[in-house]
Parts: sequence; structure tokens; C-alpha cells
Amino acid sequence: MLTDEIKKLKKEKNAVVLGHCYQNIEIDEVADYVGDSIYLSQMAAKTDADIIVFAGVYFMAQTAKIISPNKRVFLPNMQSGCLMADMINLRQLREFKLQNKDIPVVCYINSTAEVKSECDICCTSSNAVKIVKSLNVPEVLFCPDTYLGKWVETQLENVKITTYPGFCPTHLRIKPEDIIQAKEKYPNSPVLAHPECHREVCKLADFVGSTSQIMKYAKESDEKTFIIATEKGVVDRLKRDCKSKEFILIKENIICPNMKHNTLEDIYNVLKNETNEVFVEEEISQKALGCINRMLEVSK
Ligand code: 13P
Ligand code: SF4
Repeated sequence: MLTDEIKKLKKEKNAVVLGHCYQNIEIDEVADYVGDSIYLSQMAAKTDADIIVFAGVYFMAQTAKIISPNKRVFLPNMQSGCLMADMINLRQLREFKLQNKDIPVVCYINSTAEVKSECDICCTSSNAVKIVKSLNVPEVLFCPDTYLGKWVETQLENVKITTYPGFCPTHLRIKPEDIIQAKEKYPNSPVLAHPECHREVCKLADFVGSTSQIMKYAKESDEKTFIIATEKGVVDRLKRDCKSKEFILIKENIICPNMKHNTLEDIYNVLKNETNEVFVEEEISQKALGCINRMLEVSK
């Protein structure tokens, strides 16, 4: 079986597979660690494997390479980019900074290494509030996700957040009407939403949190039915892990197509042939590492 072959290759090559919760669920069978962005970044920093196969999107593999430059990092399928991360490049970041001079810049981890290399600190959706707070300043710039940035602003008193107009096309498919309809249909079931959703969606949700925060909330709550307003992979894993509860995806096909490019065959192929290796230019990597390490330090 393919999963056995992958496990064999992992052992032979001292490799680990990191899998994001938005991956096709069968990838969990070969993944050593499954979780959200912050957890996987922490695992990339911690592992003593020689090879990391990052079953996620490109910026995640790139971040793992920056954190662990001496390890070889592979992306199963090179088509797995993040549409939001690609909405801002270095020129656009510089322009954004120029228009808002001398204000610290926080970038979402969903950004390229180049963008990270010119930002002060990065964050994930789990720790964004904590990271902005840690700066202890009245104003920050936030890129690329305008919705996460604006949601963080609602969670803090007296911090102005000027956001870059990036967004996640998958999360923006969830409309306020979807939440209203779900609440009518399931009046006693909490709606759990990711902060990449539109601000009106977040306002209507009962709980807003990152992938791991949504999963923790659902697992620990006494409620029996939950409406999940984020990527389908989260629902698939909740259904697998909590058989006694019911999880309803807010609407059909809330799927990140890029996350789903990676297959077990791709993982097997990169492990066997050592193709799709991810490299980051030395100078960019050094600068981006500062941005990532500042986040890891604050979120310890
Ligand atoms: P998490 O930080 O919740 O893993 O989110 C990553 C992501 O890409 C969400 O769209
Ligand atoms: Fe990027 Fe959105 Fe996919 Fe997350 S869900 S990886 S933000 S495109």
C-alpha cells in the first residue's frame, strides 16, 4: 500500500510529514504532525528529521525552510500556492509602508518570504491578537489579510490597524446570509468562524478563532451540533474525531483548492525522487527569520 511505502521511505530517509488541517484527510495517515499554521511552524522548528515534507501550501514550506535552513524541505505539489499570500509582493509592501510611514508592520504568516523579510513581526490567526498587543503601540500596519487585521482591531482597545486589501477567496465565499440561514435552521447550534471570514460573518458568529481554536472549542463544548464556517478539512477531522457530535459545514464546497492539490502519490514521489525541494535565498531567509522568530518568541 502507498501509505506503507511512504512510512518506509520516511524511516529510511529520516523524514517527517507535516500536514495542515485543510489537507485531504487521507494525508493524516502518513503525517507525523497535523495541525494549523502555528503548530506546524513550531514542529518544523523542533524536529530533528533531515527532511520535512510539508503537506500544505507554498508559504508554509518556505517558512519551515527559513526556520530550519539545514533541513531539506519539500512541497508535495508545486501548484499548492496560497492565493492570499500572492496578493502582496515586495513592491506593493514597500508602497504600503511608504503611504504609512514609521508604523510597525505585522504580516500574517500567509505571506511570501520576501514580504516577511521587510515586516517587523509575523503572526498566525491563533496568535494575531497577542502579537499586535505585544508591540504596545497605538497603530500598526497589517498585511495581507484585511479581514484578519480588522478582526484583530475589534479585539483590542485603542489600537488602530491599517490593513492591506488582501483576502482569502475561500473564506470570503461565506456570506452573512449563510450565517443567518444556518441560525434559522439550527437555532441552538453555535456558529464557529475563522477570522479570515468577512467582518459581517465574524460579527454574526458565536465564536471566532483559528483552525485549532475552532477544533478545541468544538471538542470541549457541551453542545452537540456545530455550524463550521471555515475550510471543509476542519469539518472532516472533527467528524472523524468526535463521533458523538454533529458538524455542519456552513455551505457546500468551502474548500481551498490549492490545499487539496497535494495527494498521497505526490508525497510518495517527493520522498522517493527528492523533487519539489523548496529553497529560500540566503539574505531574504535571514531577514524573514527575524520576523518569524519574533512571533515564535511571543507565542511560546
Ligand atoms: P490557520 O492559521 O488557522 O492554520 O490558517 C491557515 C490558513 O491558511 C487559513 O486559511
Ligand atoms: Fe490561502 Fe485561503 Fe487557502 Fe488559507 S484557505 S491557504 S488563506 S487561499
